[in-house]
Amino acid sequence: MKYTSQSVAKKYFIFALMLLAGEILFGLVLGTQYIAGDFLFPEIPFNVARMVHTNLLIVLILFGFMGATYYLVPEESERELWSPALANIMFWVFAAAGVATILGYLFVPYATLADLTGNDLLPTMGREFLEQPTITKIGIVIVALAFILNIAMTVIKGRKTVITVVLLTGLLGLAVFFLFAFYVPDNLVMDKFFWWYVVHLWVEATWELILGAILAFVLIKVTGIDREHTDKWLYLIIAMTLISGIVGTGHHFFFMGAPSYWMWIGSISSAIEPLPFFLMILFAFSMAKQKRIDTENKIALTWAKGTAVMGFLGAGVWGFLHTLAPVNYYTHGTQLTAAHGHLSFYGAYIMIIFTIISYAMPILRGRPHGNSAKAQKRELAAFWMMNIGMVGVTLALTAAGVMQIMLQRWASDGTALNFMDTQAHIVPVYMIRLVFGLLVLSGLLTYFSSFFVKEEK
Ligand code: HEM
Ligand code: HEM
Ligand SMILES: [Fe+2]
Repeated sequence: MKYTSQSVAKKYFIFALMLLAGEILFGLVLGTQYIAGDFLFPEIPFNVARMVHTNLLIVLILFGFMGATYYLVPEESERELWSPALANIMFWVFAAAGVATILGYLFVPYATLADLTGNDLLPTMGREFLEQPTITKIGIVIVALAFILNIAMTVIKGRKTVITVVLLTGLLGLAVFFLFAFYVPDNLVMDKFFWWYVVHLWVEATWELILGAILAFVLIKVTGIDREHTDKWLYLIIAMTLISGIVGTGHHFFFMGAPSYWMWIGSISSAIEPLPFFLMILFAFSMAKQKRIDTENKIALTWAKGTAVMGFLGAGVWGFLHTLAPVNYYTHGTQLTAAHGHLSFYGAYIMIIFTIISYAMPILRGRPHGNSAKAQKRELAAFWMMNIGMVGVTLALTAAGVMQIMLQRWASDGTALNFMDTQAHIVPVYMIRLVFGLLVLSGLLTYFSSFFVKEEK
């Protein structure tokens, strides 16, 4: 560790991993409820488990991004963080708010939670991914402002690199677009527009900048290639991201009451969105091939390459599958959407967090050359278990999606099944999904155990 203030990243990483364990457990609860509808009812109804699952996902990614930022910005800026104390305080504020919110979801009926937290004063609750009580959202804004202030001051006072500028732009975008979560129009069509301004412009624009910056940082560190080379890649990736991703929001405006020209705009622009993800593959693999140094931390490079590949599969390939309007007409809101949601979130954003943790955590734990070969071997096993598990979950959901579309939507008049009958037909596939989900959990537990492998002297 070059700068002592980098050490604040450690607790952000550990907390993100704890939330990930919770997220996957609730995923398994949901997966079981798809097979046995009354599993854990009335204690944990499906809607509550779903909210906990997706909210833990978002919050763990935010913790991961913050940890990554606190780790890499001092090193890039060649100076200590502007205020390590602020970074520490904000960790506890955010963690407490996060835990309180999840406990609220689990132990208080949602409508009561809305009443208790004054949702009627400024109604923001009830939208997918943005279910948090308004006071939690305000808390998130405060944490984000303090975080960005801290990072911006560090960047401004220190050395400026392409990585920190791209990262800061992405983080600013993340904070700014979150503000749309406070605007909930009564008109349902307008409501959808603003909801996507948060959800889509996060995952397909601003977060992609954050992803690119973290990926470039780790690649520079583990390959020893100079930054002039990586900067060109990063510029290209972010240019393609913004060109395709911003207008690409149109792929959500097909059948929700928006003007029909969005069919063309949304289809064409979002069809280009896989390109930046593909560039990330070329970036990671060409860097790996030309590497100048032989770092002992080999597993970090494996995660970096894995992120590029899985991100492209989940976002690029599974996104493209249903992004053209005539296809989306049949696939909208089916299990195919869930297939894409799972592999994209995992492949791009969970894996980049594993990547930075894999690189930074050994250093934060006083192992500048990485973990022992034995620990890395264990981590590699976890890497494959989690990846195969998530690909299995995705393929099962894809099969489920195709069945759903055929039985419920494609079927000719009179033979189409209703929603619940369709789901009943798909139960065997949901069993397969659950098995792969268990593999993901085993992979995560294996990963955790790799932290406790004794250092050989
Ligand atoms: C890190 C791993 C995971 C990630 C990133 C993830 C992500 C997500 C996302 C983004 C959604 C919302 C999907 C949408 O709206 O289309 C979701 C819902 C869901 N997830 Fe996961 N998930 C993970 C693991 C799991 C596992 C292991 C299972 C079960 C075996 C699971 C089961 C479910 C179920 C059943 C839903 C609800 C789908 C519905 O509403 O019908 N997830 N997950
Ligand atoms: C890492 C980046 C990405 C993530 C995390 C992501 C995640 C998601 C999630 C969770 C949903 C479901 C939202 C809901 O609840 O309705 C969704 C929908 C969608 N995504 Fe992505 N996505 C990414 C990139 C892409 C890309 C690059 C494309 C196109 C090439 C794409 C195309 C779509 C489309 C068309 C839908 C709407 C599906 C429907 O109509 O039901 N996504 N995405
Ligand atoms: Fe999108």
